[in-house]
Amino acid sequence: MEELLREERKFYPSSTFTKQANIQDNSIYETASRDFTAYWEKEAENLYWFKKWDKALEWEPPFAKWFINGKINAAYNCLDRHADGLRKNKPAIIWEGEPGESKTLTYGDLTREVKLFANVLKNQGIQRGDRVTLYMPMIPELTIAMLACARIGAVHSIVFGGFSSQALQERINDCKSKLVITADGGYRRGGIIPLKHSVNAAVENCPSVEKVIVVSRIGDNGLASMHPGRDLWWHELMADSSDHCPAEEMDSEDMLFILYTSGTTGKPKGIVHTTGGYLTGVASTHKMVFDLKEDDIYWCTADIGWITGHSYLVYGPLANGATTIMYEGAPDWPEKDRFWEIIEKYKATIFYTAPTAIRACMKWGSKWPEKRDLSSLRLLGTVGEPINPEAWMWYHKHIGGERCPIVDTWWQTETGQILISPLPGITATKPGSATKPLPGINAQIVDAAGNPVPNGTGGFLVLKSPWPAMLRNIYGDTDRFIFQYWSRFENTYFTGDGAKTDEDGYFWIMGRIDDVINVAGHRIGTMEVESALVDHPAVAEAAVIGRSHELKGQAVVAFITLREGHEGNLDLAKEIKQHVVIKIGALARPEEIFFTELPKTRSGKIMRRLLRDIAENRSLGDTTTLADASVINQLKLLQAN
Ligand code: WT7
Repeated sequence: MEELLREERKFYPSSTFTKQANIQDNSIYETASRDFTAYWEKEAENLYWFKKWDKALEWEPPFAKWFINGKINAAYNCLDRHADGLRKNKPAIIWEGEPGESKTLTYGDLTREVKLFANVLKNQGIQRGDRVTLYMPMIPELTIAMLACARIGAVHSIVFGGFSSQALQERINDCKSKLVITADGGYRRGGIIPLKHSVNAAVENCPSVEKVIVVSRIGDNGLASMHPGRDLWWHELMADSSDHCPAEEMDSEDMLFILYTSGTTGKPKGIVHTTGGYLTGVASTHKMVFDLKEDDIYWCTADIGWITGHSYLVYGPLANGATTIMYEGAPDWPEKDRFWEIIEKYKATIFYTAPTAIRACMKWGSKWPEKRDLSSLRLLGTVGEPINPEAWMWYHKHIGGERCPIVDTWWQTETGQILISPLPGITATKPGSATKPLPGINAQIVDAAGNPVPNGTGGFLVLKSPWPAMLRNIYGDTDRFIFQYWSRFENTYFTGDGAKTDEDGYFWIMGRIDDVINVAGHRIGTMEVESALVDHPAVAEAAVIGRSHELKGQAVVAFITLREGHEGNLDLAKEIKQHVVIKIGALARPEEIFFTELPKTRSGKIMRRLLRDIAENRSLGDTTTLADASVINQLKLLQAN
């Protein structure tokens, strides 16, 4: 981090870029901070409301309500508004399947498909407020299903296809979904992910689930193994459906979706987002941060199973009537230039991806992007973790051709929308810094007592005022919502991140300060992995930490004490790793397992700092608080091996 703060390079947007930018002068920050509510009201006016709100904000910390009594529908704003207007024949989604097929859905097409599927949902008995779980590959039907839920007021809960069937089951049961939508499978690096297989196993223990709708993606009935009476084919239902389906008038504060994310306990949190504020936040920031123009071809590489996909692949871009690329597969399939091939093929102008992907591409070498014409690009973005200056410089040079501004966007599943980011036409960027809070956002760095710290001093990143797309609750667990985010500082949202500002007031995010780690841009709770580990019969006790990793940012490392009669060897380590894959998914698989006693303080707290020192091969820091000093020798032996 010290390294980062010494970063002195500054990159100014070119005058050509600034002259055409949506935001060209700094006065917007001042206007917004004078009255942030009025600022967001103005942004909300860009959406279509069946009925306008009576009042913009009700703020009784920690409970915020935005656009009180406003009536709005998210799908209507993403679809009909454009299809009934000038964008009927404009591509909404340009989809590229991993095997190489391509499909374009115009706003007219997408609107029709969503209406058809909305009627399918109704015919299956889905009503306003019902929860629907989506466990799907990156295919257009995923967007169609999301927007169909939004159209009829059902609440979608999307579970990333990389989660295991047990993780899926836990998430279905937590919100008691009536319906699951999936596919027979999805493609990944030429292989097949057997999604329906996982759904079958999950749903066995999900009493709330009445029906499962299955998209035929790979055309394999065997893998799908349809359960009569419960499972239905998407294409059969669509063939019998009607495309007359007016959008429900939803209240601004009606729930739009739940998205599960990891926290500091073993149980994932169902983050609740509502309609009017969320859509205002994502539409406004998408247009401003990505400098969106009518003829842009915008590409966000995130999976829709994460918040980035929700906000900046679906809701933000479609609310703005943009053309967005959606890609099903991996960046290195069939070759390591797949991203650059797609940019060249569709002449993408805006590209938004994660530092982990940039580092992987950097490792594969600049010969891959050099083979492709990337001259259509005019703006680049990153999200998910701090970007190291080396990766930033590579992105700037080899992808952006030294001409594209880079927006490093800081936000979270909970914040719903980007909160800290450059404005590409006016902000001078520094490699590794997300720069400044956006207009209308009151972010601060404070000490343990909640007082602002001076520039250069590390502290807790907090938000002092509400913003429209902020989470409203944790589904079914208001106590946890209050405890988790609002109990450390009074009337202040605590992000869980540490940060510093430099002499220019630029924000440098230093990463999580809680027991959450960030592996390849995926948030993983160490407690969640620990619960999966102790679930294995040979494991007595486990502690998980994040170890810095060249490509993934962090990797999962586990320290395990075995039960009597078990011997720590490679086979057992392999078996235990596989157990985590079954409980959570491959994204949480420990990279390394150490068998050892765990170092604890006299009050029984595991000394994770020591474990990090071991895992990262550093000399062990202060060990005087250890309850049992003999553990040290064991740990040192581990390091020596
Ligand atoms: C955590 C949120 C928001 C979409 C993807 C992740 C880290 C996110 C940045 C950034 C430094 C970042 C933070 C944050 N993070 N963006 N630009 N610079 N750190 O969403 O899974 O909810 O994780 O990701 O630690 O708290 P998420």
